[in-house]
Amino acid sequence: MATRKIAVIVGSLRQQSFNRKVARTLMLLAGPELDMEIVEIGQLPLYNEDDDATPPASYTEFRERIKGYDGVLFVTPEYNRSVPGALKNAIDVGSRPYGHSAWSGKPAGVVTVSPGVIGGFGANHHLRQMLVFLNMPAMAQPEAYIGGVAKMFEGDNLTNESTKAFLHSFIDAFAAWVERHAD
Ligand code: FNR
Repeated sequence: MATRKIAVIVGSLRQQSFNRKVARTLMLLAGPELDMEIVEIGQLPLYNEDDDATPPASYTEFRERIKGYDGVLFVTPEYNRSVPGALKNAIDVGSRPYGHSAWSGKPAGVVTVSPGVIGGFGANHHLRQMLVFLNMPAMAQPEAYIGGVAKMFEGDNLTNESTKAFLHSFIDAFAAWVERHAD
């Protein structure tokens, strides 16, 4: 099986982000068939269509970088029952210029993480709505709504064994999904 390059997009900019910790755990659990890197989004200014002719360097860099990956894994919190603005902004930046979206065709995975019991269900499905328009085949199963996350870590270490086992099965399924949809 070829090694597939995966961009990991974390929807939280917070330093002690649980989503970042879950993303890092997924990266540790992944087999050698996935080469995963976190692609930062906090440096991207708010998208303004007026700047299309002279895009900020950070936009061009982000778009070119995303184009180099075989798939994208989104790991995000839910803000007000939807995705955080920082993630929406990054998705919008990557989707332009019109007709040259960096996202198009790349297989995607969605993980939502929250201290709450619903596990970011609203954000998960709002994101999935975007993925349809972005032409990104999103893995349907297993779904990943990680609730109650505040009690699952000691430092950066995921100590909840059943969640760890679930994340392991999730990332293995995602590897198979990416392989199935790779160019
Ligand atoms: C939240 N949080 C939250 N949680 C949730 O389950 N559903 C929600 O709709 C919201 N809404 C929301 C709005 C805003 C503006 C903030 C700042 C937070 C709580 C959120 O899940 C919690 O802060 C997580 O810890 C954020 O993820 P990170 O930063 O730990 O990865």
